[in-house]
Amino acid sequence: MAVEIKQVDTLDAADRERLFDWGEDIFGAQSLNLRWRSKDLHFLLYNDANLVSHAGILRHVVKVKGEPIVVGGLGGVVTLPEAQRKGFARRLVQLSMSFMESEWKVGAGLLFCLPRMVRYYESLGWQVLESPVVIDQPSGKIASPLLVMVLPFGGMKWPPGSVELQSFPW
Ligand SMILES: CC(C)(COP(=O)(O)OP(=O)(O)OC[C@H]1O[C@@H](n2cnc3c(N)ncnc32)[C@H](O)[C@@H]1OP(=O)(O)O)[C@@H](O)C(=O)NCCC(=O)NCCS
Repeated sequence: MAVEIKQVDTLDAADRERLFDWGEDIFGAQSLNLRWRSKDLHFLLYNDANLVSHAGILRHVVKVKGEPIVVGGLGGVVTLPEAQRKGFARRLVQLSMSFMESEWKVGAGLLFCLPRMVRYYESLGWQVLESPVVIDQPSGKIASPLLVMVLPFGGMKWPPGSVELQSFPW
């Protein structure tokens, strides 16, 4: 089994379809009807030359109680069904985490997820944010209907207080 990881700025249509259109509502968030933001960088994992797993990241500044914090956003984490439970997503999430910390040198990682994924990300060091998070949508600002998890880097402590995303979620 040969595993190769590539890094690209944009996903082409074929890769996008292969990764995200293999099932109905694979992220379980369709009913929320949210507008999402695209990522700045994509990690693609190929198993025996077949694209099977993806994680996307972006750089962004959020405000916590009015104070800016530079975060690395993680999203679009997916593995095709036939390649699941082999640790591929874990590899890409860990790569994303080290890239955000060492290359981008952001203060923390930030992701949106459903309750079903919390244990998975907790095992990788992420923590559920208890404070309210306000996200942007075309209709205006709304409370995030998704859980938000953060991963502070380099001993940083995520400050208490409400979070203003100042962006569509990712
Ligand atoms: C969630 C998802 C990305 C996981 O992808 P994956 O490549 O299977 O992930 P991993 O292999 O790293 O880990 C998956 C699980 O398999 C377990 N696992 C990892 N390697 C394993 C192995 N060799 N044998 C058995 N189990 C294994 C992990 O412990 C993990 O279990 P847990 O969730 O109970 O902690 C994938 O199921 C998916 O695409 N789901 C739909 C989209 C989605 O919900 N994405 C998350 C958005 S936040």
